[in-house]
Amino acid sequence: MPVTAVVGAQWGDEGKGKMVDWLAMQADMVIRFQGGNNAGHTVVNQLGEFKLHIVPCGIFNPNTRCVIGTGTVVNPVVLAEELRSLKARNVDVSNLLISSRAHLLMPYHVLFDRLEEEARGEQSLGTTLRGIGPCYVDKVRRSGIQVGDLLDDSLFERKVRAQVAEKNVLLAALYEAEPLDADRVIEEVRAAAQQLLPYITDTLPVIHAAIQRGDRIVLEGQLGALKDLDWGTYPYVTSSNPLAGGAAVGAGIPPHKISDVLGIVKAYSTSVGKGAMPTELFGAAGDYLRERGAEFGATTSRPRRCGWFDAVAVRYAHMLNGFTRLALTKLDVLDELAEIKICTGYQLDGKVYSSMPDPSVLERVEPVYETLPGWQQDTSGARSLADLPENARRYLQRIEELIGAPIQIVSVGPGRDQTFMLDSQE
Ligand code: IMP
Repeated sequence: MPVTAVVGAQWGDEGKGKMVDWLAMQADMVIRFQGGNNAGHTVVNQLGEFKLHIVPCGIFNPNTRCVIGTGTVVNPVVLAEELRSLKARNVDVSNLLISSRAHLLMPYHVLFDRLEEEARGEQSLGTTLRGIGPCYVDKVRRSGIQVGDLLDDSLFERKVRAQVAEKNVLLAALYEAEPLDADRVIEEVRAAAQQLLPYITDTLPVIHAAIQRGDRIVLEGQLGALKDLDWGTYPYVTSSNPLAGGAAVGAGIPPHKISDVLGIVKAYSTSVGKGAMPTELFGAAGDYLRERGAEFGATTSRPRRCGWFDAVAVRYAHMLNGFTRLALTKLDVLDELAEIKICTGYQLDGKVYSSMPDPSVLERVEPVYETLPGWQQDTSGARSLADLPENARRYLQRIEELIGAPIQIVSVGPGRDQTFMLDSQE
């Protein structure tokens, strides 16, 4: 592997957490490179079921160093609570590092996320309301507070007071809302930050020493290509770059050192929040996938929108990421279906699109489907390609053909032992 970027090839929730947990069994380091606690990675292993929001999924392997990378936004209150609950369940978190350059997601970011969404009314974006967008906005306008600022009390206090003063003007002018009390903000964040201080560091030397040694490094992305700030279904996107390119910047690794880009695809499509999703199924068909696949958000518990596999979207993700290989998750969810559809193109006004159009066009397209026979057998016990029914293998093969990248890993259930390599090399 040496450096593998694990990225979502659809709208997020493809099962990256499970895949990183699986890869972390052999990894020396896992680095979360973007996003914050809008993520909800569900991991099931010998210690039980966990929903991680900001801590990298490698945390369950005591030999893996886990880095909350520079490209992330860190809510100290949420992170402190996540660490507390992991420790309470006997997970050793001493291998965690938090980049001093990551940005602090402050209580006022959460407040503004909600106020902005309310103000958008019908045009709301469907964010997770976790403050992610407003925090990245402050980072980009260069008024953010970095994690490392927590190490200098007076600097931290000065920055918070300046920010709160400014936010209070906006709160009054835009939302007629009550002003924030800077002392309370400082107190709340400081109390949580006490738990985080031992982990804060300049991560660059540590990461580069690991690269020099040839350590196996996994770069853990959040969300997927279709929610990328630049390339997703704008404006219904997140505020960072979940692509492999974002991994290089967010982790602090030269792009050419990323030797492996593992795209995670779900056997069908899901999306949370608003924005175009051409293959979305409504009524009983969508309900079936949602129930069978337990498609409810790990962070917000919102029901996920469900639909058939969209090969146009994943091909687009491949163009952006350059997948060296794919991992396909949740194949077992399709087990009972007599027929399975794959979207191979879109049509609109008599025109057929085989590649991704701009978001405003995507909103209006109709999917073009090809139908494959289902396998109607239980695959949850499969542990190799040979264990899969012939029609399931045909389904995988067709996806490979349409995307142009090899599927090397398949999962047929949430447990670690339900993930396997197709060529049995790992
Ligand atoms: P934000 O990242 O909270 O600003 O939300 C922006 C968009 O990304 C919305 O469509 C959210 O539903 C979506 N989103 C953010 N995090 C996740 C996730 O972990 N899974 C699925 N969708 C997400």
